[in-house]
Amino acid sequence: MAKAPTIRKCLFPAAGYGTRFLPATKAMPKEMLPIVNKPLIQYGVEEAMEAGMTQIGFITGRGKRAIADHFDTSFELEHQIFGTSKESHLDDIRQVMDSCDFVFMRQREMLGLGHAILTGEPMIGAETFAVILADDLCAAPTDSDEKRALAQLAELYERYQCSVIAIEEVPKEDTASYGIISGDEIAPGIYQVNDMVEKPKPEDAPTNMAIIGRYILTPEIFGYLKQTAPGANGEVQITDALKQLAQNRQVLAVKFKGQRFDCGSIEGFVEATNYYYENHYSD
Ligand code: UTP
Repeated sequence: MAKAPTIRKCLFPAAGYGTRFLPATKAMPKEMLPIVNKPLIQYGVEEAMEAGMTQIGFITGRGKRAIADHFDTSFELEHQIFGTSKESHLDDIRQVMDSCDFVFMRQREMLGLGHAILTGEPMIGAETFAVILADDLCAAPTDSDEKRALAQLAELYERYQCSVIAIEEVPKEDTASYGIISGDEIAPGIYQVNDMVEKPKPEDAPTNMAIIGRYILTPEIFGYLKQTAPGANGEVQITDALKQLAQNRQVLAVKFKGQRFDCGSIEGFVEATNYYYENHYSD
């Protein structure tokens, strides 16, 4: 088999309202909420960079300007702290800005995650690409040198040359918050997907293996998304399109290594804050 082309592009759907964080998200995007001193979206872009991707596409909506400003130069601020010890606080974001190109696309109506991804088609074209949901924050494993989740998925793509999604076992009573897969385990922790269902009640869930916010998608997903009728909550679900794709092509699901924090929920956000403060923060 010919070597798979390297994945260059990563989409960040970020058009949602973040209602679980109101009133904090009334005038500020959820993706800009900080875990200690870094916004969620920056953790996501750094994870994409670690996986070798530097063409970054944001799917945004109204009220999301702060994301664009974050990845741009702030002349007054930088002039103000130039030559002081505070300048080092900007090292990480400067490295991100120097390494990546950023494209902003607007999703004019909140028609679901699948629709948000479809909004990115003009930037992606006919390439395999990645998707990160920044409110799922993935930390690297602590017991090995392994990279974060997206790099693990990209490595599997190079090996199998098909769409790859990240999964995690969740308590059975939580299945209604996730897309749930079922499939055959073809290698330890790697499943060939044969079915998926969006937000099933625990009694209807085929397994407890939940899709989390990291995907590598081959471009044929766009054709499936265009044919996908609105499903659960009247939204175009990526899970429904992936299910169709899995019926015609190989789709893999992987139990990635490392920890995932659901920063779209208050509990997960607090847990992530404590974890990053204890393990990664130095003044
Ligand atoms: P969520 O279901 O977490 O929705 O979307 P949300 O609006 O961000 O948060 P809550 O539930 O109101 O608190 C999952 C991801 O998909 C994006 C969101 O921005 C989030 O990253 N999304 C969802 C879109 O970009 N467009 C949509 O139409 C729906």
